[in-house]
Amino acid sequence: MVPKVFSGSSNLPLAQKVSKNLGLKLSPLEITVFADGEKRVRVVDNVVDIETVVVQSTAAPADANYMELFFIIDALKRSGAKSVTVVIPYLGYQRQDHVFRDGEAVSLGVVIKAIESLGASKVITFDLHTVKIPELFRIPVSHLSALPLFAEKIKKMANGSPRVEAGQLSIVNCSLVSPDLGGVRRIKLISEMLGNMPYAIIVKNRNLDSGEITAEKIEGKVFSKAVIVDDMISSGKTMVAAAKLLKESGAQEIIAMATHAVLSSGSPEVLQNSIISKVFVTDTIAIPEQKKFPKLEVISMADIIAKELFL
Ligand code: R5P
Repeated sequence: MVPKVFSGSSNLPLAQKVSKNLGLKLSPLEITVFADGEKRVRVVDNVVDIETVVVQSTAAPADANYMELFFIIDALKRSGAKSVTVVIPYLGYQRQDHVFRDGEAVSLGVVIKAIESLGASKVITFDLHTVKIPELFRIPVSHLSALPLFAEKIKKMANGSPRVEAGQLSIVNCSLVSPDLGGVRRIKLISEMLGNMPYAIIVKNRNLDSGEITAEKIEGKVFSKAVIVDDMISSGKTMVAAAKLLKESGAQEIIAMATHAVLSSGSPEVLQNSIISKVFVTDTIAIPEQKKFPKLEVISMADIIAKELFL
């Protein structure tokens, strides 16, 4: 049976692209906001015994976007939907997946409990902060990645003809760079996708109280070009600190790639005014016009989501 695709209000452009790729129209939802800011969600279509899909990114405002998602799941289940697959391209609170310091809540654990207890059947999401996160769910999780599209982009930037040396594809004078130790697995994966392209890893230090970030040293060879690959850009400080250290270590052209454009306040200016020449992100989070900047290029994840839904 043909599924019905619904969208929350956080990432309508991506939901529209996904449903278009599936040859469907988005199904209507009534989402109204009361004077005090509370929301009401109502399913208008008949969904009895129908497989449903909801697209909702839970980036800022994470709390409001999560509440809206919870209401949509609840409304669909109460209306008799056979299943509710939730596409959460950016999973909010993923960085609080365990207790870092005594006394903290495990925020991600709380939202997972809500998603599951409301009756969602499956979660589709992208480039989680750690590969352990899917194990925290008791429902199936498809953990997808933007890395294959980033790898394609890197190949294209090398004019589609990266040099092949001794059976290995290498893009001349360029290395992939992880801006921190947490990204080692990610950088190894994209390096493999690019025929074992050389990579380097930065040792980063984040002061948990002040938020100050320092890129302390680089392990691996630095070439004249560097592509920093990360899961997300929030303040932009990680990318900029990494780029600064790369420049001091001899890199001349530095490109940044990150799946999730969290782009917290001030970061577009920080990135635009940095030594980074180009910033690639995806549409897992909708980017408002006022946050777009000339160096930014957005790659859509709609095809990958549509293919996953079609499976
Ligand atoms: C941290 O470990 C993540 O992988 C990102 O590097 C980080 O969240 C980016 O944040 P910001 O842009 O604020 O430095």
